[in-house]
Amino acid sequence: MASPERDPVTGYKTTGHEWDGIKELTTPIPHWWVSVFLATVGIAIVYLYLMPSFAGVKGFLPGALEWSSSKQLAEDQAVAAAAQAGWRKRILETPLAEIEADPDLRRFAVTGGRALFNENCAPCHGVGAGGQQGQFPALIDDDWLWGGKIEDIHQTISHGIRNEDDDSRQSTMPSFADILAPEQIDQVADYVRALSDPSQEATRTAMPGAKVFTDNCASCHGDHGQGGREFGAPTLNDAIWLYGGSKQAIISQVTHPRMGVMPTFAARLDEATIRMLATYVHTLGGGER
Ligand code: HEC
Ligand code: HEC
Repeated sequence: MASPERDPVTGYKTTGHEWDGIKELTTPIPHWWVSVFLATVGIAIVYLYLMPSFAGVKGFLPGALEWSSSKQLAEDQAVAAAAQAGWRKRILETPLAEIEADPDLRRFAVTGGRALFNENCAPCHGVGAGGQQGQFPALIDDDWLWGGKIEDIHQTISHGIRNEDDDSRQSTMPSFADILAPEQIDQVADYVRALSDPSQEATRTAMPGAKVFTDNCASCHGDHGQGGREFGAPTLNDAIWLYGGSKQAIISQVTHPRMGVMPTFAARLDEATIRMLATYVHTLGGGER
């Protein structure tokens, strides 16, 4: 192997390696590249010193700044809560029925209420409150079981329906399996279907089921099936069904009544939150004055 010699063109020494007459030079790494490399090493050392880094025995090393994403989240949430505090205070101080009259308050309540609804209510009532046929009522139409005024909605959300809360809405549709003969149940089911059928308007009072209905059902569902909100008894003459409008579904409800249960929210959500939810639901389309 030849000893290192200088390359006549560049002036750099050769390494002494040579293949087929081509000699390798000891050209140094450019200064700019070395500086950038050293700078990144420096930055990395500073970063590791300041920020959480290596795994220790009891957890990672916290770093000089003691930053953590959970602390950061708590701080951000505190900032957001502070920004909302003024609005929430105004919502608490404004009478329920007047929140919607103030455009700014209404916007805050509806926007916040929508997010809260998706978090707390959508699993049952669906995103957008469209309901789930046969289980959970839609809240976007003007067909209300318990009432569509904002005070009614507020009461329903606060205390729920048929739960152990003392102020929960309560009612029971009895089973008529042992009260009515199968023939009468058949007749009343036909009559209930006829209630929402305009083509049977003239003839329906003469149906045999009409008397069964008046004697057994009208006390809750109303003389004309218009519903009874003090019992949460659905309107039966509007062709909107919670549990289905087929004859079979009606017979099933009369013999084995299903009764919806909704949890109480007063224990879980604060009053301002419940008011925002009530405002949101009230503005969905079916709200009553
Ligand atoms: C576990 C399921 C469930 C959850 C969660 C739930 N609901 Fe309900 N909700 C129901 C059921 C079931 C009914 C119907 C009860 C009945 O048949 O009387 C109902 C009824 C209602 C009514 C009355 C509708 C009417 O026609 O009068 C309102 C208003 C309402 N819910 C709002 C809400 C809001 C707002 C939330 C979220 C804070 C919520 N619900 C969360 C199951 C639920
Ligand atoms: C004590 C009051 C009460 C009486 C009496 C009563 N119901 Fe009901 N009925 C209710 C309630 C409350 C509901 C709603 C249950 C719920 O919300 O889950 C209901 C629901 C129904 C439904 C389901 C409606 C739908 O939208 O799917 C039908 C159908 C019905 N009743 C028919 C009858 C018939 C027919 C009679 C008489 C034979 C009768 N009910 C008697 C309280 C009553």
